[in-house]
Amino acid sequence: MILLGIESSCDESAAAVIDGARVLSSVVSTQLVHRRWGGVVPELASREHLRVLPRVVKAALQDAGLGVEALEAVAATRGPGLPGSLLVGYHLGKALAWSRGLPFLGVNHMEGHIYANFAHGEEPLLPCLVLVISGGHSQLVLMEAPRRYRIIGQTMDDAAGEAFDKVAKLLGLGWPGGPAISRTGATGNAAFLAYPRALTGREGFDFSFSGLKTAVLHSLRAQSEDWRNKHLADICASFEQAVCDQLMARTLKAVVTTGARHLVLAGGVAANTRLRTQLEAACTPLGLPLALPPLAWCTDNAVMIARAAHGRLLRGERSPLSEDATPRFDLEAASHGQGAEQDGR
Ligand code: KG4
Ligand code: ZN
Repeated sequence: MILLGIESSCDESAAAVIDGARVLSSVVSTQLVHRRWGGVVPELASREHLRVLPRVVKAALQDAGLGVEALEAVAATRGPGLPGSLLVGYHLGKALAWSRGLPFLGVNHMEGHIYANFAHGEEPLLPCLVLVISGGHSQLVLMEAPRRYRIIGQTMDDAAGEAFDKVAKLLGLGWPGGPAISRTGATGNAAFLAYPRALTGREGFDFSFSGLKTAVLHSLRAQSEDWRNKHLADICASFEQAVCDQLMARTLKAVVTTGARHLVLAGGVAANTRLRTQLEAACTPLGLPLALPPLAWCTDNAVMIARAAHGRLLRGERSPLSEDATPRFDLEAASHGQGAEQDGR
């Protein structure tokens, strides 16, 4: 099946074409307009999608060497995400599908992140535990049957990516913060500052990152500007290590408790080198297969949307064109089709 995927949930305008197990093209246009504001401005994001997305779709078709008449189905992100941004991509997808008489499917963005690991059509071994860590989400998700998701843990405050972004702002490293902290911290001493490991020994599988952010703030306030500049790499490495330790401790505990046979990393923070390396080192002696998404598909892209849609479309799932995008679209609701019941209208 030749399938066009469209992603516009936040600040990436993206389109991709896949043909069965093959990825034919992937175009991602990152909106730079937000940089000066230090975070995504929703109104600017939707305007940028309006301006850029039709061109991005054209480029994806061109890169695939196909015309629109070659498409057999269209998929677009339905949610979660920014309402205005989602609307642009969702309606573009629906309009394309309607005009060509093609099947259309709305996709849960988080399911997309999971399927970035299986871009060529593979499926995870079940039961599978997914650590989903992005700018808006930090969740431990158990998949016991194909595409049936149960959230067994989530952040009680900030998402992991949000913590990276906020700490980068404190350190004057710009936005988005994850890549900046990771780059700066690469040469640092991770044991330089003993930031707290939240929820150590606590029951369950939830996360918490806001205390860590506050601890970074206090450590900066206690010192001079010179000290900060001199030890920037060490501060970044120490912060990053505290995030990794918490993520890994909670995740590995959940692996044991659930008897998961496959561990899957998903979302923008999955691009973090320290986390990837340390998770790999922890999983190898356990003989636990670990799926790490290719770096290019960790942050938002449309290959993951097309791939998540592909299996569902083959099984005959469709989204009615009367349906709208859904800014609050829980992964558990996506287990039962792509979320009509969460419409909230
Ligand atoms: O999945 P994504 O592109 O968008 C959302 O759905 O939220 O994730 C973006 C988040 C941002 O918070 C960004 O700082 C973080 O992923 N991120 C990273 C890295 N690359 C991106 N965090 C840590 N290390 C990275 N290398
Ligand atoms: Zn995302």
